[in-house]
Amino acid sequence: MNGTMEIAVTAGWPGDALDRLRERYTVRVREKETLLDEEALAAFIGGAHAAMTILADPVTDGVMAACPNLRIVANVAVGYNNVDLEAAARRGIWVTNTPDVLTEATADLAWALILAVTRRVVEGDRMVREGRFHGWRPDLLLGRGLQGRTLGLLGYGRIGRAVARRGRAFGMTVLFHDPGVLAGEAGDRQVGLDALLAGSDVLSIHCPLTPSTRGLLGRERLRAMRPGAFLVNTARGPVVDEGALVEALESGHLAGAGLDVYEREPEVHPGLLDRQDVVLLPHAGSATVETRSRMVELAAENVVAVLEGRPPRTPVGGRSTA
Ligand code: DGY
Repeated sequence: MNGTMEIAVTAGWPGDALDRLRERYTVRVREKETLLDEEALAAFIGGAHAAMTILADPVTDGVMAACPNLRIVANVAVGYNNVDLEAAARRGIWVTNTPDVLTEATADLAWALILAVTRRVVEGDRMVREGRFHGWRPDLLLGRGLQGRTLGLLGYGRIGRAVARRGRAFGMTVLFHDPGVLAGEAGDRQVGLDALLAGSDVLSIHCPLTPSTRGLLGRERLRAMRPGAFLVNTARGPVVDEGALVEALESGHLAGAGLDVYEREPEVHPGLLDRQDVVLLPHAGSATVETRSRMVELAAENVVAVLEGRPPRTPVGGRSTA
């Protein structure tokens, strides 16, 4: 029976998890790098019993309706805003994500952006490569120090807490805002959103994309941030209004931004592209060989569980909430 069960994987992954699945199932992997729209995604999944998807795949009700054998959508990401959970629950389809395994890698990358933007690392690299480094000067490429400053975290889940731990090691005070959390670790203090915006020298975003966080940092809230602060986003782009962010940078109200995710990904607001005070990465938070291998292993484990009739290890909804 297993040999006839089919798994549709919408992207190639490092590691040998997919090879191990091939020993027991028919596995189809999409090797093209272009993004799938709903129609193409439905056509690709087709009659498969399991789909292993990426965060850019729009797993809508329509897609699930067109895939009659589908039992599980194993999203190989911790975020799952691309999957219609309510429709999956109605259709009895499990939805799983890949928490924990990417926490440290994503926190590292948030810190890479914090350091890059406050210490002007990318600007300095460009200066050297372009032959504009003519020797040490006391005022050359001055950045901003972090010790004694306040790190603000919008979202204090696994990744937010891992970013906080690094922040404390850099001598920063940590504030956070997360309605789902009662107490902070090691002196980290929960505050209201207004206090977080006004009190943070570096504001780093670690909340999921939901209807209540979409557009949360619009013009007014960006204006309410501490003058001279830095904004870092490794969570989901649509939490920030990019046009308003460009305005806040242009006016000098914010000192810089480090972005790994974009409002209309993979498009980037043109106003961000020319700015020296912005560091831009291509949604690489979890992009280490080790982490990506663990993500696909966990997703594969969830698929095997469901295809064998057991509950998956990391469900986020769908059948589990039906
Ligand atoms: C996620 O997992 O949600 C990241 O955005 C990609 O790893």
